[in-house]
Amino acid sequence: MCGIVGVVGRNDATKIILTGLKRLEYRGYDSAGIYVAGKNNNLLKSTGPIKNLEAKLTPAITGTMGIGHTRWATHGKPTEENAHPHTSEKGELVLVHNGVIENYDELRQTYLSEDTFYGQTDTEIAVHLIAHFKNEGLQTKDAFKKALRLIEGSYAFALVDTQDDTTIYVAKNKSPLLIGLGDGFNVLCSDALAMLDQTSHFVELMDGEMVTLTATDAIIEDAAGQIINRDFYVAELDASDIEKGTYPYYMLKEIDEQPVVMRKIVQKYQNEDGSIAIDPNLLATLENSDRVYIVACGTSSHAGWAAKKFFETLTQLPVEIHLSSEFGYNMPLLSEKPFFIYLSQSGETADSRQVLVKTNELGYPSLTITNVAGSTLSREATYTLLLHAGPEIAVASTKAYTAQIAVMAVLAKALGTKKAILAANEFDLFHELGLIATAMETMINEKELLEELTAEYLTHTRNAFYIGRGNDYYVSMEAALKLKEISYIQAEGFAAGELKHGTIALIEDRTPVIGIITDAATGLHTRGNLQEVRSRGANTLVIATEELAKPDDQILLPTVHPLLTSLLAVVPTQLIAYFATLQRGYDVDKPRNLAKSVTVE
Ligand code: M6R
Repeated sequence: MCGIVGVVGRNDATKIILTGLKRLEYRGYDSAGIYVAGKNNNLLKSTGPIKNLEAKLTPAITGTMGIGHTRWATHGKPTEENAHPHTSEKGELVLVHNGVIENYDELRQTYLSEDTFYGQTDTEIAVHLIAHFKNEGLQTKDAFKKALRLIEGSYAFALVDTQDDTTIYVAKNKSPLLIGLGDGFNVLCSDALAMLDQTSHFVELMDGEMVTLTATDAIIEDAAGQIINRDFYVAELDASDIEKGTYPYYMLKEIDEQPVVMRKIVQKYQNEDGSIAIDPNLLATLENSDRVYIVACGTSSHAGWAAKKFFETLTQLPVEIHLSSEFGYNMPLLSEKPFFIYLSQSGETADSRQVLVKTNELGYPSLTITNVAGSTLSREATYTLLLHAGPEIAVASTKAYTAQIAVMAVLAKALGTKKAILAANEFDLFHELGLIATAMETMINEKELLEELTAEYLTHTRNAFYIGRGNDYYVSMEAALKLKEISYIQAEGFAAGELKHGTIALIEDRTPVIGIITDAATGLHTRGNLQEVRSRGANTLVIATEELAKPDDQILLPTVHPLLTSLLAVVPTQLIAYFATLQRGYDVDKPRNLAKSVTVE
């Protein structure tokens, strides 16, 4: 949610900021803004995506230092007034912010009752507050520190004093922020992706820390004012990983990358002798636990559901799946020795983090499975397993979902083998993942058929249903989320047997109902449910494994291991969502109202 960037010590500051903002656009694209300090100080904002801001930058503005922001609105509508950067009343301070200030109203009433505000954002209050303390006689840095002590909530701030074009003041609490170190210049960014073409050396910041950033130094202080010496890490990513190449949309590229990701997971988690490369301490902790709680949001929680059956089968450990936003404030009665798994592509999701903070306080062991090394959830959990999926830029998550399931399978196989569970010993996971990769390629090559079926079934509909049982139900939930979040078709994923207990009332003439059938034990029941809706006018479409298929089924999945069918069955549903969105003329990668990384609760 919201992306911030900044640079100090470069003549091409404007270009660096704009490139960085474009790379952070996945975090929000309601509006954007830039401040560049140079011979003339320039502040520009616009609504809509970064390209609108770019269009306003003619003639080009130049300077050696600046900050930028791309917004996902929380407080106040996505208007130009509410776009960042925000300025103090006299314009001497300029601030960009990612996060939510919870006590903004109280701060306004206590300190800023005389001030005039142009927008409705909490950030405008923050910059006025800093200016308030500066006007009392404090230096900018001390005024910032004083304000930070009063501000409650989440923030990544970058603050500039317009009288000083050599320094950016930076602070972080709960929202992600990195410092990037260059040769004679330094940068800041919400995500290393933004600055990968400038540097691969990044320094993580911890909550409560503040940085004084100049072209040659990045001085970090903790909340008590102590100087912190922290080494940089080298980002593994390559700038080319985040290019779209010849693809029209990131989502299509990321769907196509899934077979490669499956093979990469095999490569990363397999030792030379064929055994599994997983921290023995993690396995020992899990072996000593009596129940696994998977805590996640959206697509990641659906990946948790897809992992439940094989995890329980291979490890004989019960698994519960919970939505982060519900779990933290409504914690169920826990088992005696719980183990928490946080599934999160970004590793930054605030809903999940608030649960992790609580389970850490309770002293429970945890594992984060994430795509982003060094992310907040990764740093704060006891253990981390990486997805190795490469950057996922499209808001609609695809390859992270399948990677999460595959890494959960690696963990289940390792634990089951350690516990000498027969089902795990008999399960040749790495071989099966290789077969899945090949089967995914087969499905990906069916784009023409899937495009035609999507046009036939989904062009003239307001709503659609996916149905299935067991794992096919869990894939249905994910398929429906994908369809609704980008095509805006109201889609629901249902347990096929539940339809007749109420939802079947929604079936009208030509309502699309897509059945997923990969399980011999339940396939005939799902077919029965499809028959029931067809009798009431529904337009049914079947995705079935070749061995369970009937002659009229439209989408055939190659046969793969029964515990891993979700990895394959989801692929045609991702492509259906993609084509439905294209056919309706919407932006596939940037659906309305959404952002990739949800860093506010
Ligand atoms: O980064 P996370 O995996 O924690 O994100 C969780 C959800 O916000 C995310 O999966 C969301 O549901 C996607 N937009 C779905 O495509």
